[in-house]
Amino acid sequence: MSASFRFSLAARCSVLLAAAVMVLVLSHGAQGAGLSSSFYDGSCPGTRDIVRRVIQDARVADARIPASLIRLHFHDCFVNGCDGSLLLDDDAQAAIMTEKNVPANDRSARGFGVVDNIKRALENACPGIVSCADILALAAEISVELAGGPSWTVPLGRRDGTTTNIESANNLPSPFDPLETLQEKFRNLGLDDTDLVALQGAHTFGRAQCQFTQRNCTAGQSEGALVNLDGVTPDVFDNKYYGILLRGRAQLPSDQVMLSDPVAARTTAPIVRRFSGNQKDFFRNFAVSMVKMGNISPLTGRDGEIRKNCRRINKKPY
Ligand code: HEM
Repeated sequence: MSASFRFSLAARCSVLLAAAVMVLVLSHGAQGAGLSSSFYDGSCPGTRDIVRRVIQDARVADARIPASLIRLHFHDCFVNGCDGSLLLDDDAQAAIMTEKNVPANDRSARGFGVVDNIKRALENACPGIVSCADILALAAEISVELAGGPSWTVPLGRRDGTTTNIESANNLPSPFDPLETLQEKFRNLGLDDTDLVALQGAHTFGRAQCQFTQRNCTAGQSEGALVNLDGVTPDVFDNKYYGILLRGRAQLPSDQVMLSDPVAARTTAPIVRRFSGNQKDFFRNFAVSMVKMGNISPLTGRDGEIRKNCRRINKKPY
């Protein structure tokens, strides 16, 4: 084989490789490429302060709110990308079936009233500027910071989707999924094992219904009875959750599988141990993984709108 042929073969291979990477980035990461932390600096400079103030107020009455808000961002991004679709209510005229009724959200996802309050405050300050999808991304970061966790720069500029996806919402990770299923669901969205272990670290705060827990409900308890996800520091964002896992005491089976599943030893378990021993390392990785999750693009493209009312696509204000 001549040197020039070898060279052109190598060149062609790298062009093909670059094309494949482009396809991957376009299918999952394109939104990230178009986002910028300074997106509202000119059009709505008070955005972060407004979101923070509403969450702080809500937190006084309900300590669980920060946890509930970050979970909304997760359930939004995992279904059709981070496009605020989770916030849409049923709307027969617009042929919209809400994602709020799928098993992972029904009588479980909460905090929608706080998102409404944030949106109302933002519409008062700068009408039609800040997307509902960006509200969820910002609320997630602020919630973690308020609970004592890391803060990070949130890329902004998402647009709101005009449709929901029930099939995909039905496929949200389940607390009863084996580890390989969880890994696959994350991998399909460009998130690796480190992201999985870091992001599940959000179970360092908030509550779960006993029907979803490893020990299930005790006699006489209703299936909706709440338990703290982190029994040591229930409302603080720290790395205690990983210590609980190491003692085999995680609330959700989907938490514990990161140590107990047969494939955990060579995948997730070493990461759990690492984060348990080093909170700084966990915080750093958590922030990186949150930005990655927040970059998941709407598969339908970027033809969304800026909703005036996060629950409706037809521009009606509240
Ligand atoms: C690996 C996949 C995951 C599964 C199977 C899962 C499952 C669950 C379940 C079953 C609950 C309790 C819901 C209820 O009882 O009503 C819960 C709560 C929660 N999840 Fe996850 N989760 C996962 C990943 C995540 C991620 C990636 C985040 C955020 C980055 C997150 C944040 C939370 C928070 C903060 C709560 C408490 C919410 C509240 O108190 O309102 N979870 N999760």
